[in-house]
Amino acid sequence: MVKIAPSLLSVDFACLKDEIDKIKAAQWIHYDVMDGHFVPNISFGYSILKDVSRITDMYLDVHLMISEPSKYIDNFIDSNASLIVFHYEAVDRDEIDNLINYIKKSNVDVGIAIKPDTAVEVLLPYLADLDLILVMSVEPGFGGQKFNPIALDKIKKLVSLKQDNNYKYLIEVDGGINETTAKLCRQAGVDVLVAGSYIFNSNDYTKAIESLK
Ligand code: DX5
Ligand code: ZN
Repeated sequence: MVKIAPSLLSVDFACLKDEIDKIKAAQWIHYDVMDGHFVPNISFGYSILKDVSRITDMYLDVHLMISEPSKYIDNFIDSNASLIVFHYEAVDRDEIDNLINYIKKSNVDVGIAIKPDTAVEVLLPYLADLDLILVMSVEPGFGGQKFNPIALDKIKKLVSLKQDNNYKYLIEVDGGINETTAKLCRQAGVDVLVAGSYIFNSNDYTKAIESLK
């Protein structure tokens, strides 16, 4: 069964605890970190992540949309991230192996995200070591955008690479997920669906979460 990761980007932060209580039907929380540099938007950082970790036991899936993620990895580890996902486009190629190993050594799961224009093939050297691949189905930066079907081919490619090589990574998709696009992604073989506006703009979060499974 697919996992659902509601994105806190669309949450009402004045009511954070109540909002988190209302998404218990999901297993994961997706935490979108934006720096106003790698993406043209600013969201929240590691200190709020620590607060979130104090009020929930859910798996904390941290999506770093920031330049130079290695500078801040320790802060996110110390703030109780369960999984840290950095962007392939935000790092130098020769630092990727170190970053993966560093996060793993800290007993935190590790993933890499790719933007819609980045091919799956760039990840081939790292697939064996990753816990998760995040396929972006919108340009990172904002919630409420339209799903780009280019993500479906990438999901299928990652499924077959996983089967052929016995890899263990989960495949996650992020952006424009609603009942219709969720179904397409499930058919393509996705493991984790991120959804922000679809869940938090609904008047029944549990029902919205169930409709994606
Ligand atoms: C986009 C973020 C997403 C976003 C998804 O940059 O990474 O997680 O919050 O929002 P929706 O589900 O509204 O497209
Ligand atoms: Zn995200």
